[in-house]
Amino acid sequence: MSVAGAVRAVTTLRLTEMKQRGEKIAMLTSYDYSTAKIVDAAGVDVILVGDSAANVMAGYETTLPITLDNMIYHAKSVVRGVNRALVVVDLPFGTYQGNSKVALDSAIRIMKETEADAVKMEGGEEILESIERIISAGIPVMGHLGLTPQSIHKFGTYNVRAKEEAEAAKLARDAKLLEQAGCFAVVLEKIPASLADQVSQSLQIPTIGIGAGRGCDGQVLVIHDMLGINKDFSPRFLRRYADLHTIMTQALESYVSDVKSCDFPNEKEQY
Ligand code: KIV
Repeated sequence: MSVAGAVRAVTTLRLTEMKQRGEKIAMLTSYDYSTAKIVDAAGVDVILVGDSAANVMAGYETTLPITLDNMIYHAKSVVRGVNRALVVVDLPFGTYQGNSKVALDSAIRIMKETEADAVKMEGGEEILESIERIISAGIPVMGHLGLTPQSIHKFGTYNVRAKEEAEAAKLARDAKLLEQAGCFAVVLEKIPASLADQVSQSLQIPTIGIGAGRGCDGQVLVIHDMLGINKDFSPRFLRRYADLHTIMTQALESYVSDVKSCDFPNEKEQY
């Protein structure tokens, strides 16, 4: 068990040091206690309580419906399972875009109620005032640029972002602004590898890529995707490290069969 309120072994400062010495940062999502415990013990550096919980935990098409209360519930569960990793929690759609006071209130609720280490916010210049206000309250912020799923209705597609020069230039500018505002890291989602490489080299803070190539200072994946629980999602950037969908299906079918055939429970499995 981690001590409530204790500083975990991986800190935002440690991530900067990892970048400086060229050590890559491994980040994964988690949404519940039992999974977070395994992820932490496996040596993952940063655990993201992502608003992708809306997709993989709740079955929504987009990340928009998840609420601050939902995120707090997931984050509290994750924090109870983590000793070492830095725990970052997504501010969900609608809880920071309004104005910087609303944004600060949302971030404070996350930090107070979950004992997580930091928040993540999607966007650049448009939300800079909110980011600065949250950081000035002592709350570390991770940025998120490129494909920002909370803006899916603006983009109209989950395709690669910043392929055109104007969008690429804005992204590079936004990344610098986030660094100057005091963000400790920035996620780069689904952008050309050459752009992610250039941005990573231009920043002192680490970049964490998802579909942004090997030039980033770290990588992040959604745990359900990389473990093969969710088989409906197969973008090019996704490497599957297991086929849990098949393993779970086989185990579940065996259980059903054993119950139906009265094989389970046997003599030794009863009192
Ligand atoms: O919500 C999430 O899981 C994310 C990652 C894809 C970076 O934001």
